[in-house]
Amino acid sequence: MADKKENTLNHISFIMDGNGRWAKRRLLPRELGHVEGAKKFREIVRYCIDVLNIKYVSCYVFSTENWNRPKREVDGIFKICYDYMNTCIKENEENRLRVRFLGDRSVFSQEFQDKVAETEEVTSKWDRTLGVCINYGGQDEIVNAVNKLIAEGKTHITKEDITNNIYTGIMPPPDMIVRTGGEYRLSNYFMWQSAYSELFFTKTLWPDFSKKEVDELIEQYKTRQRNFGGVKNA
Ligand code: IPE
Ligand code: IPE
Ligand code: MG
Repeated sequence: MADKKENTLNHISFIMDGNGRWAKRRLLPRELGHVEGAKKFREIVRYCIDVLNIKYVSCYVFSTENWNRPKREVDGIFKICYDYMNTCIKENEENRLRVRFLGDRSVFSQEFQDKVAETEEVTSKWDRTLGVCINYGGQDEIVNAVNKLIAEGKTHITKEDITNNIYTGIMPPPDMIVRTGGEYRLSNYFMWQSAYSELFFTKTLWPDFSKKEVDELIEQYKTRQRNFGGVKNA
């Protein structure tokens, strides 16, 4: 399709799945899979922002359903997130990255909520944006948005109302959603935002994911015909 205009890429999103299986294959506890996954998360985010110059990156870290996991694993994930926030605050000037948390934060401990607020505040001056989805659920997000609008007295809700009241707010919808770990589903991720996202699935477990694979997926993305319901060359 030589006449095709190359797709723009403003927002890339990752469903970072496969940490547990990565650990299990090495006879390690699942928590260590998440430690390894967090290292990979930092590497891939930096690559997308600094090298590929993508303006918005988002990552699915913890879903509203992930509370169903053993407490030890959940605690491990939240500890990693807390340490990551401290790193973001400490390395803010070098990172030049605006960090925003997407999800229902009201259930977090006060200490965790304060750290989330501090991280967002300290990093707010930058343009490049990372969306970190913690206690995020696509269904939950839409219900919350609707309840917020009802509380404001709205009796008729438009698509724009929902778009403006979901967690992503100012972030454009993802052009690409990449799921690692070999499962072919969205698991309650970006249910509203994914309406016209291009979806990519790879069997690679998240800790084994690589910059090279990001490059390959973006090459594939460029060749996708995005129609948004219209027809090409109408
Ligand atoms: C994704 O990896 C990270 C989270 C859901 C927190 P998993 O922990 O789901 O890894 P698998 O799917 O069990 O391998
Ligand atoms: C999706 O992975 C959530 C994250 C990557 C944070 P899960 O491992 O929770 O998804 P399911 O349960 O296999 O659908
Ligand atoms: Mg999983």
